[in-house]
Amino acid sequence: MRAARVVRQLRRAGCVFAEDEARLLEQHAAETGEPLEPLVQRRCAGEPLEYIVGWAAFCGVRVAVSPGVFVPRRRTEFLARVAAIFARYSGADATVLDLCCGAGAITAVLQAEVPDIRLYAVDLDPAAVECARTNVGDDVHLFVGDLYEPLPAQLRGRVDVVVANAPYVPTEDIAAMPAEARDHEQRTALDGGADGTDVARRVFDGARHWLRPGGTAFVELSGSQAVALSPNLDADLDVCITESKAYAEIVLSATAPGGADAADREQAWDEVHALLQRPRPA
Ligand SMILES: C[S@@+](CC[C@H](N)C(=O)[O-])C[C@H]1O[C@@H](n2cnc3c(N)ncnc32)[C@H](O)[C@@H]1O
Repeated sequence: MRAARVVRQLRRAGCVFAEDEARLLEQHAAETGEPLEPLVQRRCAGEPLEYIVGWAAFCGVRVAVSPGVFVPRRRTEFLARVAAIFARYSGADATVLDLCCGAGAITAVLQAEVPDIRLYAVDLDPAAVECARTNVGDDVHLFVGDLYEPLPAQLRGRVDVVVANAPYVPTEDIAAMPAEARDHEQRTALDGGADGTDVARRVFDGARHWLRPGGTAFVELSGSQAVALSPNLDADLDVCITESKAYAEIVLSATAPGGADAADREQAWDEVHALLQRPRPA
């Protein structure tokens, strides 16, 4: 009876997945002993569900998210899975760098899925890095700062995979975003500058110096942004746009020249193409 009432309240407030949300709120209330009604009221007032229950599901991993820190989106699971494939093909002790790591969702997936990997992650927002620490523990090298700036210099030219879900909303589109994102997430987590590609461009500019020969950088963007940005990247980089219909996501990638592992890279791409044929797991 109570469940049906909560579903009705959530539906009236505009929650599309009211049944699922009611179940998660009730589960959270039961687990924590918090009274259900204030939780439902917070959700009806527009607070993101993930801030209320304190976590988001991402590639089957429960990622803790604290208020204000960007909530990992399901579509970014494609970026994480592609990065995991390339990390796996990079051999033992692969070095992977998650720029703009937020709550550390991508890093947490890489940690769970690829054994014996060296993980570095960076975010400008100290609250995000603190949140990432709770998700990935002490084995990951975490830094607060601007993209590559806080990294140890000895990493230059040695990174196998750079992965970044950087902010890519064009500045003037932020006002049209759902209130949940606009009012609750940091502007620095969303705003990608005039055409949305300011941070992504800097990720690729730096990748040229931090990737090892044959290493690859992967960045989530919209289709039109990927098309606009790719001709402007360093001419030495081998650039590719990959679209996943299942995840509704576009990934722009750029591979540094050289490296003795072209065959491994080809196998990794074969695995990505196989992933493109599969439906997104529920
Ligand atoms: C779209 S969110 C993505 C977070 C995380 N990668 C994810 O997918 O859940 C972008 C993140 O980039 C961070 N950020 C923005 N500009 C940055 C910069 N110049 N250097 C490092 N991090 C930055 C923001 O603080 C925010 O956490």
